[in-house]
Amino acid sequence: MGVSVVTPTYREADNIRPLAERILATMEAAGADWELILADDDSRDGSEEVALELGRSLPVRIHVRRTRPRDLSQSVLDGIRLARFDRLVVMDADLSHPPEQIPELLAALDGNAGMALGSRYAPGGRIDGAWSRYRTLNSRIATWLTRPLTRCADPMSGFFAVDRRSLPALDELAPVGFKIGLELMVRGGLRVREVPIRFDERHGGSSKLTWRQQLAFLRHLHRLYTFRFGLPVRALSFGAVGLSGLLVDTGFYLGLQWAGVGHLLARFLSFWPAVTWNWRLNRVLTFNDRPADRPVPQWAKFAVASGVGLLTNVGSYAVLTSFVAPFSERRLFALFAGVVIGSAVNFATSTRYVYRRRRKVG
Ligand code: GDD
Ligand code: MN
Repeated sequence: MGVSVVTPTYREADNIRPLAERILATMEAAGADWELILADDDSRDGSEEVALELGRSLPVRIHVRRTRPRDLSQSVLDGIRLARFDRLVVMDADLSHPPEQIPELLAALDGNAGMALGSRYAPGGRIDGAWSRYRTLNSRIATWLTRPLTRCADPMSGFFAVDRRSLPALDELAPVGFKIGLELMVRGGLRVREVPIRFDERHGGSSKLTWRQQLAFLRHLHRLYTFRFGLPVRALSFGAVGLSGLLVDTGFYLGLQWAGVGHLLARFLSFWPAVTWNWRLNRVLTFNDRPADRPVPQWAKFAVASGVGLLTNVGSYAVLTSFVAPFSERRLFALFAGVVIGSAVNFATSTRYVYRRRRKVG
């Protein structure tokens, strides 16, 4: 039974040969078939040449992805699509992940786990080399943020084994950034078995973990939370966007009056920037798992939904204060109730008609 090793690479030319040689030695000792697929993001640093050269004598291939922006996870998915074997190992190119532990991961996978995860934080795992306090803290916080999604100790790890046959359809995955392992375990609902690893300092080259990647990680987390907890996360997100929109609304309302516009006209005008703001934020946050519709018609539908929400809001206020005794005494409660009811209507309409689901294919 062979194994396809998929390695995301970006500017790792110097590390490719030692990586391939250490995998070769390990797999020869284990007597197993293997291949190494370099999932490259158009490094242009000589990686392709090194890979082609190695490919003459070893089962090494490079797949170059030319779609921008670069994305580690998407590269890995490409690599998985190309793999010859069903058993897959994903690992970094910079030799942080010891190839010598591949057989251990595969053995753990065979004991009916969905994923065998190379773990720095499982008992027996370790990190060699001096990590700055910042890097340690960063890693801890990131791990802590995944707690509601998975209970494993090192969900940030990029070193793991999976069997392709137990993966969900690759087209249904929606990772962004570095955490393809987290994506697979959460969306694929995989049972994770952790194998303690020795995580080395990278050999040569430089880390690609930038603040951009950290932002991508937050976006990725948001997607996974929406996937796992659906409605409540969406409702919270919609509510938070609504609150921020209220600030925009108020800002324009006051600003326009300051510029000499009368208060009624200011009230009417400030609605539009606020609606636009909310539409846009809901598109990139609340409904980021929905396909991107054409902007203008979607904006118009959202404006209608918000208008209906506003009418329900004010309407509820009128009904409550006129006909429901406790509220006629406490009008401020009626105002809040109106906001909640109006927002709920807007949320329901938006979910159903504005940010529409992907159409089922086939
Ligand atoms: N295809 C592709 N595209 N590969 C990339 C990209 C990219 O945009 N960015 C980085 N890589 C490759 C690197 O060449 C390396 O092989 C691997 O992905 C990890 O990148 P590093 O730059 O070494 O990042 P790191 O050491 O901070 O991240 C590692 O540790 C994390 C846990 O602390 C990775 O193992 C992560 O997967 C892991 O989560
Ligand atoms: Mn690294």
